[in-house]
Amino acid sequence: MNIITPTADGSNTLYNETIGEHYHSKHGALQESKHVFIDAGLKFASTNQDEISILEVGFGTGLNFILSFEYCAENNIKLSYTSIEAFPLTTTIIEQTGYAAYVSEEIWTSFISNYPEALKGPQKLSPLCTLEIPYTTLAEYRGNKKFDLIYYDAFSVQHQPEMWSDEIIAHACSFLKPGGTFVTYAITGKLKRAVKACGFNIEKLPGAPGKREMLKAVKGM
Ligand SMILES: C[S@@+](CC[C@H](N)C(=O)[O-])C[C@H]1O[C@@H](n2cnc3c(N)ncnc32)[C@H](O)[C@@H]1O
Repeated sequence: MNIITPTADGSNTLYNETIGEHYHSKHGALQESKHVFIDAGLKFASTNQDEISILEVGFGTGLNFILSFEYCAENNIKLSYTSIEAFPLTTTIIEQTGYAAYVSEEIWTSFISNYPEALKGPQKLSPLCTLEIPYTTLAEYRGNKKFDLIYYDAFSVQHQPEMWSDEIIAHACSFLKPGGTFVTYAITGKLKRAVKACGFNIEKLPGAPGKREMLKAVKGM
């Protein structure tokens, strides 16, 4: 059962009763998504690029996706977005988040009307944007495609430790191109060592409100 819950910046998140955790930071869902994934991830990785491919771990409500879609649309960047999701939410609960308020009506309508089909295969949401949500676990996800950027947005290590093991991090990182970027809201010594072991240069950045630091890592060429 997922319950809509307000966060400190006025945006909503969901509380997942089974896992015992929120989908986003209680200090601000919208702020966290913008800070970690858009500002530290997408803006960095798309500098001087006119196209970008993103692999997200944990599609959830689609907040990271809609903000990425809008940023790319505004900046004329072609976006190919693949987001692995093991437990897809219903369209109804996604609509109840109120996230329609954070993007243009055109972007929201295109997202929400294509969401069910995107769980079955790639959907073209606009001339510049394709969305695919493989309905599987990260561990079972396979594919030949390599990505420019990974948004690692799993539930926290306290609630889902298996999503932060060295093996699963290496598996996720194997889908990144050389020179590609990995961002996540979390940072621990174990995570840094796991990412470094995959040949990444790591950077600690100031975290979103409520977190001191976050991790950005760039894969060696
Ligand atoms: C922190 S939430 C993601 C929030 C999301 N990015 C958003 O903007 O709403 C973590 C997500 O990971 C999904 N998940 C849990 N276990 C998973 C697994 N083994 N593989 C892929 N996704 C998983 C959950 O269902 C949940 O949607």
